[in-house]
Amino acid sequence: MAQTIAQSALDIPSLDAELSTQSPQRILERALDQFDNIAISFSGAEDVVLIDMAHRLNKKVQVFSLDTGRLHAETYQFIEQVRKHYGCTIDILFPDTEKVQQLVTEKGLFSFYEDGHNECCGIRKVEPLRRKLGTLDAWITGQRKDQNPSTRATVPVVQVDTAFSSDDRQLIKFNPLANWSSADVWLYIRGFEVPYNPLHEKGFISIGCEPCTRAVLPNQHEREGRWWWEDATKKECGLHAINPTKSA
Ligand code: ADX
Ligand code: SF4
Repeated sequence: MAQTIAQSALDIPSLDAELSTQSPQRILERALDQFDNIAISFSGAEDVVLIDMAHRLNKKVQVFSLDTGRLHAETYQFIEQVRKHYGCTIDILFPDTEKVQQLVTEKGLFSFYEDGHNECCGIRKVEPLRRKLGTLDAWITGQRKDQNPSTRATVPVVQVDTAFSSDDRQLIKFNPLANWSSADVWLYIRGFEVPYNPLHEKGFISIGCEPCTRAVLPNQHEREGRWWWEDATKKECGLHAINPTKSA
């Protein structure tokens, strides 16, 4: 039976040192054993492996997805496929209607191409995430070091999420796939016949919102398909605000 550890009793640097050489499955198992009030943050892309791993561990876990309103049709269909395949509930989170309304009324539907993605991501992703994380003790992401050499090279397997903790509440963030490569993830998906987003068959590696994601050419880095009009060091949308950014 899982038990919630008092936040103050948890020594995160020691836990990170202990788990950093372990497999994603063991890290995930430890996270789920340690916290009852924990959820997987599922983007509708290759982070489906986390749901598959939890399923194979026979662990019930909350899953949520941030529906920005701008995802690809394939991603919506894939999220539904995953819900049915694993028989799990996926909590779909929506942005604040009035804030979206105000943004698109004032600046149109594609303001991010002109003044950057932060404002739109702030409304459509970060604010709904903050609302959800306010109800949790810990969350689990599919972040990997190899996803972005500029901002994710040092992502640990477990950390205190200082961006979303509050004065009276420490939020813990697990990144069980941190040390896996894209190749490791795809070996797992193919080896275990895990369902995947069909966009991956069309040259998409990293998948986010439709207007801000494009397919990449052979040997282009996966991150080049995200917010391609912006500098590599700015390619974070605020979900992972604690990741360090190098200056250009
Ligand atoms: S992003 O910050 O640039 O959009 P990325 O697409 O690399 O993130 O995904 C990294 C991890 O962030 C995912 O594995 C997932 O845990 C979380 N994430 C990203 N987008 C979403 C989303 N729309 N809903 C839920 N979680 C997400
Ligand atoms: Fe808006 Fe693009 Fe961010 Fe999606 S990725 S929330 S469309 S700026």
